[in-house]
Amino acid sequence: MTVITNINDLKRLHKRRTPKMFYDYCESGSWTEQTFRENVSDFDQIRLRQRVAVDMEGRSTATKMIGQDVAMPVALAPVGLTGMQRADGEIKAAKAAEKFGVPFTLSTMSICSIEDVAEHTSKPFWFQLYVMRDQDFLKNIIQRAKDAGVSALVLTLDLQILGQRHKDLKNGLSAPPKLTPPVIADLATKWGWGLEMLQTKRRSFGNIVGHAKNVDDPSSLFKWTAEQFDPRLDWGKIEAIKEMWGGPLILKGVMEPEDAIMAAKVGCDAIVVSNHGGRQLDGALSSIRALPPILDAVGDQVEVHIDSGIRSGQDVLKAMAMGAKGTYIGRAFVHGLGAMGEAGVTKALEVIHKEMDISMALCGRKHIEDVDRDILRVPEDFAGRWA
Ligand SMILES: Cc1cc2nc3c(=O)[nH]c(=O)nc-3n(C[C@H](O)[C@H](O)[C@H](O)COP(=O)(O)O)c2cc1C
Repeated sequence: MTVITNINDLKRLHKRRTPKMFYDYCESGSWTEQTFRENVSDFDQIRLRQRVAVDMEGRSTATKMIGQDVAMPVALAPVGLTGMQRADGEIKAAKAAEKFGVPFTLSTMSICSIEDVAEHTSKPFWFQLYVMRDQDFLKNIIQRAKDAGVSALVLTLDLQILGQRHKDLKNGLSAPPKLTPPVIADLATKWGWGLEMLQTKRRSFGNIVGHAKNVDDPSSLFKWTAEQFDPRLDWGKIEAIKEMWGGPLILKGVMEPEDAIMAAKVGCDAIVVSNHGGRQLDGALSSIRALPPILDAVGDQVEVHIDSGIRSGQDVLKAMAMGAKGTYIGRAFVHGLGAMGEAGVTKALEVIHKEMDISMALCGRKHIEDVDRDILRVPEDFAGRWA
């Protein structure tokens, strides 16, 4: 039995147990992958201050994100095709999140539908929306989210057009996978994955098939999605969606103070400083570097969350100490899911929680809400000197 001590252990198992096409889909960034790499390496630039002779008993990582109680400030980020990493992946991840006491965010591009996840969980989850051209589909999916008791809408702003990820093109990514000779050869070594997949009916985009006009099979689906992401999304449309939804709203994908100010004006409950895990604009700053100027601009008006590059509880601690009020993990939980299903997602959350809790204690703090910049050493030139 492999002893899992960190997210990298889960990543190795994920790679071993999952078809290459889906592992690569997860573990890649756009173009040169510079932003994808720097999301992680920039966290390493920040150091922690070890403090001693501080009573460490009675610690707590519990806090709130948009007013909702969380066992730790770590939500599961929306990840498309999660149900291809493992059969019924979204349901498994949502269950693990619910048991742990952290928010689960279902992607528009999930395999399991909103209704499916609601049926298999007992607490409200969050739903991530991509804005589509088809207005009927848009209204309908917002209504479906309301009917399912979704407790926050996460509106993604940075994917009106898809950043190119070379591996997806080379692998011929599709859901379900097309059975070409290389795919068949690969699947032959991933039989555990295949056996589970044969036992589920959920193998295509559950929120879309049967809900969008004329989308009933994989070929019409791919055509529909390619045409449907609405490149005309602007602040006016964001306000209209806010009205349509009427509940807690999180705007995801903000990287610059000007946009953060616009987001705060719209009156959202939180923004997520995010570059989509380095999957969209390659060459953008890492999220952790983009965070401080955004906090300076809007930190007193709106909750500022962050994702992209978080692989450990120390990363979460650093983001919170910089001033974020919440974080999200994408790949870190997908590695857990691909490695060991629901138990793997739980493991990923446990690993991150333990790392955060012990590091917080060694920095001399007992409550995550008391963690501040004082526990960090941030390089003087961390923001970068850009002309
Ligand atoms: C495989 C994969 C699929 C993703 N799909 C979506 C999606 O459907 N919607 C969305 O808003 N973000 C999506 N994201 C971005 C994540 O929500 C999140 O911003 C990112 O994973 C954070 O970076 P990290 O993976 O380094 O934690 C995806 C990310 C990955 C890795």
